Amino acid sequence: MQPAEKFSFECCQETADWLLARTTQRPRIAIICGSGLGPLADSLKNQESFKYTDIPHFPRSTVAGHDGHLIFGELKGKQCVCMKGRFHMYEGYPLWKVTFPIRVFKLLGIEMLMVTNAAGALSDSYNIGDLMIIQDHINLLGLTGENPLRGPNEEWFGPRFPALSDAYDRKIRTLAMETARRLGYASFVKEGVYCMVAGPNFESVAEARLLHLLGADVVGMSTAAEVVVARHCGLRVFGLSLITNKVTKDYDAKESVDHHGVLEVSRRRASMLQMLLTEVVGSLDSDTSSCGQKETETSYQNGA
Ligand code: HPA
Repeated sequence: MQPAEKFSFECCQETADWLLARTTQRPRIAIICGSGLGPLADSLKNQESFKYTDIPHFPRSTVAGHDGHLIFGELKGKQCVCMKGRFHMYEGYPLWKVTFPIRVFKLLGIEMLMVTNAAGALSDSYNIGDLMIIQDHINLLGLTGENPLRGPNEEWFGPRFPALSDAYDRKIRTLAMETARRLGYASFVKEGVYCMVAGPNFESVAEARLLHLLGADVVGMSTAAEVVVARHCGLRVFGLSLITNKVTKDYDAKESVDHHGVLEVSRRRASMLQMLLTEVVGSLDSDTSSCGQKETETSYQNGA
């Protein structure tokens, strides 16, 4: 394998400075909208929108259902920045490019990353249309050598060996589950493990069985790499999956998954994911982006 080429700190700074010069908004929360979940970004108030193609160094979205705009605005009175459309490895991007926006977010002053995605269910107890609060992930690509942090470490952002044992913020997960109950969503909101694969093909039966055996409840083609980079630079992370299909573990199954089906379920259930995420954002303390009592600043720094 060739050593990874990467965007330098200066590149990230250039992009952040470009954005800071064009908006007066100074959000602390960044939200990534997954497949078909763009309406979440559309719901922001006082929007200022930038096309990915206009932002220096930004990659372009090439996938149906991923729009390609960075939108600043307010959700429940809190300033946020939303990625309407994300980047994937299967588009041909190396993971350091896929995760470039996360480092730009850090330089914009973001403290919390909220990730959403569409995912296929491996666990039999999950149904199409369920929402899953991500408790943890299996970064299958990372385990096999394809990690966005591979190559020289950018010390400004974080340590060479970041911890990942507490990647998905426990307090926000608890808050999200309480919020789900309050909204009457308890019957279809679960908490579980997300496994990231590269795609673009959906899983074979043997692969689905393997991932399930490894401990994954759902599988998708995004998120874990972004979360690794976010934790490396000390962002707090919250993740939500929308279950758009069941991944078959049965050779006799008649149905198979397709991208249009995934987008169709996203359209139908996206409003509930949007409501849950919006209510969670509304419950965060406005000064610290934390929930309830203040966190000690250092406990979330540098992957600790
Ligand atoms: N597999 C991988 N990624 C996905 C799936 C799936 O079944 N559904 C939505 N994204």
